[in-house]
Amino acid sequence: MHKVIYDTDPGVDDAMALLFLHRHPGIDLLGVTTVFGNASVDTTTRNALFLKREWNIPCPVARGASITFDPSRQERPWPTIVHGHNGLGNIAVPETIDLPTDPRPAYQFIIDTVRANPGEVTLVAVGRMTNLALALKHDPEIASLVKGVVIMGGNFYVPGNVSPVAEANIHGDPEAADLIMTASWKVVVVGLDVTGATTMGRSYLADMAKAGGPSVQLLSDLSQSYIDFYSHLVEDGMMVHDSCACVYVVAPELFDTIEGSVRVVCGGIADGQTIIKPNGRHFPPGDWDSLPSQIVCTGIRSQQVVDLIRDVI
Ligand code: BDR
Ligand code: CA
Repeated sequence: MHKVIYDTDPGVDDAMALLFLHRHPGIDLLGVTTVFGNASVDTTTRNALFLKREWNIPCPVARGASITFDPSRQERPWPTIVHGHNGLGNIAVPETIDLPTDPRPAYQFIIDTVRANPGEVTLVAVGRMTNLALALKHDPEIASLVKGVVIMGGNFYVPGNVSPVAEANIHGDPEAADLIMTASWKVVVVGLDVTGATTMGRSYLADMAKAGGPSVQLLSDLSQSYIDFYSHLVEDGMMVHDSCACVYVVAPELFDTIEGSVRVVCGGIADGQTIIKPNGRHFPPGDWDSLPSQIVCTGIRSQQVVDLIRDVI
């Protein structure tokens, strides 16, 4: 059984990934932690509670960071054009959900849960990396206590999606992401190189909803404006970014990877760019040396990934 904490900013593709984690028989979802990103943390937390209620997800939801790891960073606007004004594609969502959040902040929930399950927890982070960075800052030892970290974020050999060189989750908090990449734990980076090539068609999702009943119908409903947004890049479908990271946890054989040290550019024209120095390539001494080796996904069996998401959901 894979014990997972899901750190997320729901978010349309985050919602699909949540349903995948909840329904996969080999995954034990220990908790959902929220972060700002696709909307404010108030909104992403409300959305997580809404989806927990609609889908009967038993695990706790812990509210996380509302601002970047470096508080002096200027706030970026919410991507309402992508995820809607309410973060869930503008479907009707109650202002508040009558369910409690965990009393602890997300970073403390992460620390406590990792310490209670040493060597067993995989952190799957699909929003800004702020909660993970705060957890590391407050308790650096958790780096040696987690089983692994899988993130959706970054881009290495393809362009970014919020700047020519940067992907949204990394660009939204580059200092946090650089800390995550350079810490002494094993990070698997599932970025745009693979998620940008993994799309689910509108009619494919409609067929899933027909077969899957009201819970999948909700997923389909909240995805419609996201699919409209993606029409400039995808023919009548959506990129399933965050689900790809979740699929990696259970089916890493569907991905091609390379290994090396990873850094994130913090500031300037390339703010949020992710860079890998592949192992075995030699350069003059620089900011790449003596860093932990991370795993970066460079290839994906997209159709198998999408079919797996469908079958599980
Ligand atoms: C990432 O940014 C968000 O819009 C998505 O939820 C995903 O996590 C893709 O760049
Ligand atoms: Ca996300």
